[in-house]
Amino acid sequence: MRLILLGPPGAGKGTQAAFITEKFGIPQISTGDMLRAAVKAQTPLGLEAKKIMDTGGLVSDDIIIGLVRDRLQQPDCKNGYLFDGFPRTIPQADALKNARVALDYVVEIVVPEENIIERMSGRRVHPASGRSYHVTFNPPKTADTDDVTGEALVQRDDDREETVRHRLSVYREQTRPLVDYYSSWADTGSTDAPAYRQISGLGSVDEIRQRVFEALGA
Ligand code: AP5
Ligand code: ZN
Repeated sequence: MRLILLGPPGAGKGTQAAFITEKFGIPQISTGDMLRAAVKAQTPLGLEAKKIMDTGGLVSDDIIIGLVRDRLQQPDCKNGYLFDGFPRTIPQADALKNARVALDYVVEIVVPEENIIERMSGRRVHPASGRSYHVTFNPPKTADTDDVTGEALVQRDDDREETVRHRLSVYREQTRPLVDYYSSWADTGSTDAPAYRQISGLGSVDEIRQRVFEALGA
């Protein structure tokens, strides 16, 4: 299984990615998680990326494309992969296409903007694994603690309301065009075009999981 999860910040990409990667035994390639790991390790890339991420802007295409290219060389990508938060711009999608990276599906999770702010404000994450929870909608078994490791959960630095609003406008301008990019590619019927699936991201986490699996024929 080789797929892209597309959708605005807070759509539930990371939440659903955990179910899909487990089901298919494939790695999650989340450029956001990779950048946050670089920030935590204080690498030169991390120090540069942090300034951009804190404002809600996008890290440069060259950096992101290089990160993903290296990640795809790892042996665990042999049987498939799930892209979460990548591609996010037309040049990133073109880079994937030009490198002939195979894709079976693009799944778009649709959530209206008015629902996104409340999702982000209650989000808590486990930094080491990238697992996300929500204080009301998807709470951990024990407050502020990761279900799997028992380690502390934290709030993401870019989940402040004004940063979320900026991330949403960046999504509208730079990432939303990928909906057309991939759906019109699928419409050509070309054999290397991934199938395009659009699902509503409104409902419980479990309902969305069922929708996603159905969209993937699983
Ligand atoms: P990234 O980490 O990719 O963030 P994002 O796309 O903005 O998406 P989020 O992680 O915020 O949302 P999500 O869809 O994963 O939602 P989640 O499942 O957590 O990127 C961060 C930054 O890194 C970017 O701003 C940029 O600076 C940089 N970057 C990353 N990739 C880049 C790239 N390719 N190019 C350039 N720059 C890049 O869910 C959200 C909340 O909702 C959680 O609390 C969750 O518990 C809750 N929730 C989930 N499902 C439901 C449900 N069904 N009902 C109610 N609540 C729910
Ligand atoms: Zn995410």
